[in-house]
Amino acid sequence: MSDDAIGVDRGLTSYGDAGFSRYLRRAFLAAAGYDRDDLARPVVGIGHTISDYVPCHRQMPEIVKAVERGVLQAGGIPFSFPLTALGEPLLSPTSMLYRNLAAMQAEELVRAQPLDSVVFVGGCDKTVPAQLLAAVSAGRPALLEVTGPMLSGRWRGQRMGACTDCRRTWGEHRAGRLSNDEIDEVEQALAPTAGTCMVMGTASTMACLTESLGLMLPGGATAPAPTGARLRHAVQTGRRAVELARAPASETVVCGASLRNALIVLAAIGGSTNALVHLVAVARRAGLDLTLRDVGPMMDGVPLLVDCKPTGTRYLEDFEQAGGLPVLLKALEPLLDTTAATARGDSLAELLARVEPPAPWQDVIGTLDAPKGPPGTLVVLAGSLAPNGAVIKAGAASPPLLHHTGPAVVFESPDDALRLLDDSSLEITAEHVLVLRNAGPVGAAMPEAGSLPLPKRLLAAGVRDMVRVSDARMSGTAEGTVVLHCAPEAAIGGPLALVRDGDLVRLDVAAGAVDLLVEERQLEKRRASWSPPALAERGWLRLHQQHSLGADLGADLDFLVPPATRR
Ligand code: FES
Repeated sequence: MSDDAIGVDRGLTSYGDAGFSRYLRRAFLAAAGYDRDDLARPVVGIGHTISDYVPCHRQMPEIVKAVERGVLQAGGIPFSFPLTALGEPLLSPTSMLYRNLAAMQAEELVRAQPLDSVVFVGGCDKTVPAQLLAAVSAGRPALLEVTGPMLSGRWRGQRMGACTDCRRTWGEHRAGRLSNDEIDEVEQALAPTAGTCMVMGTASTMACLTESLGLMLPGGATAPAPTGARLRHAVQTGRRAVELARAPASETVVCGASLRNALIVLAAIGGSTNALVHLVAVARRAGLDLTLRDVGPMMDGVPLLVDCKPTGTRYLEDFEQAGGLPVLLKALEPLLDTTAATARGDSLAELLARVEPPAPWQDVIGTLDAPKGPPGTLVVLAGSLAPNGAVIKAGAASPPLLHHTGPAVVFESPDDALRLLDDSSLEITAEHVLVLRNAGPVGAAMPEAGSLPLPKRLLAAGVRDMVRVSDARMSGTAEGTVVLHCAPEAAIGGPLALVRDGDLVRLDVAAGAVDLLVEERQLEKRRASWSPPALAERGWLRLHQQHSLGADLGADLDFLVPPATRR
C-alpha cells in the first residue's frame, strides 16, 4: 500500500504483507457492520473523554453523537474512540500529573489508527490542554470540541457556581460563618448541571484559548453544556472535520500570530494562571522557542474586558449570551494579528468582518475604550526567588498586598501545610508570607495547592487574604494574593529550596518582582547543604519526575518536545 493511502487504509498493521493487512483490516471492519461504501469515505476519528469519573463530561455521549451526525452529513465516516479522561476533583494527587500522559496517549492513537482528521472532545481542566498538545504534535488535521460550561446555580436567592463560590463559601464555613447544615445545602447548589466550571477558571479559559488559536470553530468556547447551541456546534465541527480530512495535509495552525492572539485573549478574559503553563507547552510543541518570561510581556497593556468570576462578578452563560468569544475578539481587534487562521479556514479578519462590536446590552464584554478593569490581570514576575519566572493573578489579589514584605513561614509540602496551618503553636500573623515548596513539576506534579488556606484563627479574626508564594499551581477559579509556578522549582534546587522561617520575602507586583531578602553569602552556605528529595521508586510518577521540564517551559516532558525547542 502506498504512503499516500487514506481512510481505513492508512498506516497498515505490520504483518509483512500489505495486501494481507488491508484484507484482514477490512474483514474485521465488515464484522463491525461497515460495507465498502462506508470504507471508501474519509475517516474522522473522534477521541472522547467519556468517564463516570468526569462529571463535567456527563453529556459527552450526546455531544459525540452530534459530531458523528455532522461527519455523516458531510460524507465522512466517524470512528469514535476513548481517550484518557481526567476529572479534576477526582484524581490524586493532581490531574496535572497526567496531562502529559493523556497528551501522549492521544497523539499516539491519532498516529497509530487510520484516520484522515480528528475531533478531540474534552472539557475538564487538563483534558483540553492534553488534546491541544496532541493536536499540535500528531500530524493530522485536528479540531477540538468542548462540553461547554455548566449553567449557574442558586442558593437561598444567591446566584452561585463552581468553583469560585466553592472556595468562598468554604472559607466562610472555616471562619464559622456558615453552619454544617448550610454548607451541606451549598454543596448541592454549586454544580447544578453537566458541563465544566462556569466561571473563568482553567476549563473556560482553555476553551477560549482553543478558539483563539484556531483549533475550535467560532462560538465553541462558551455555549453551555445543556443547550442546543452546544449540540449544533458539535454537528458543525463534524462537518468541518470532513472538509479537513479531504484537504491537502497542512501544518498546525498554531503559529506566532495565533499564539500572541491567544495571550491577548488570556489577559482580556482575566483567565487562569494555569493557561500560561499550558500555552508555553503548546508553543514549544509548535516549535516556538518561548518561555514564561517571554510570554509575560505579550500581555502587557491589555485591559480586562470580560466580567466573569473570579476577577469579575458574572458567569460563562452571561458571556455566551453577550456573543461569546467572537464579540470579544471584535472588541480586541485593534490589538490582534488578524492574518491568523480560524478553524473555519478563513482569516480572523474575514471572521470579524461579520461580527458587530459589543452593544450596551452586551455589557459582560467591555471595549478598549471602556474596559472592565485595568491591564495587568495576569503578571509574570521574576526576581531572586524565581529567576526563571513566576505568576500572579493580580486581578484576583488584594490590592494592598501587591506590595508587601513579610517574614516567611515555610511548608515543605502541601501535606505539611495542611498539618501545620491550624496548629495553635504556629506563630503567624497576617503580615507573614506563606511559602510552600516541593510542589513544582518534579516535586509533586504541580498540585493546585498554591492558594493555601488561611489559618482558622486568622480567618476568625477577619483576615481574608495573605501573600502566598510557591512552585505549585492554583485553581483558575481561586482568588487571593498568590504567587505561583516559581521557577526553577525547589525540588531541583531553585531558590525556594533555600528559604528559612523568618526570612524576609518581598512582593512588588508593579515592579514585576518577588525576592528573597537574604544575602547571597548566606544562600551559598544553605545551597551547599541542600540535597534533592528522592524520586518515586517506580511507575509513571518516576518517569514524569525524570523527564519533566520546568513550569517556565510548560512542564512538558523533555522527550515530547521537538528538537528545535528542546532544552
Ligand atoms: Fe471539571 Fe472544573 S472540575 S471543569
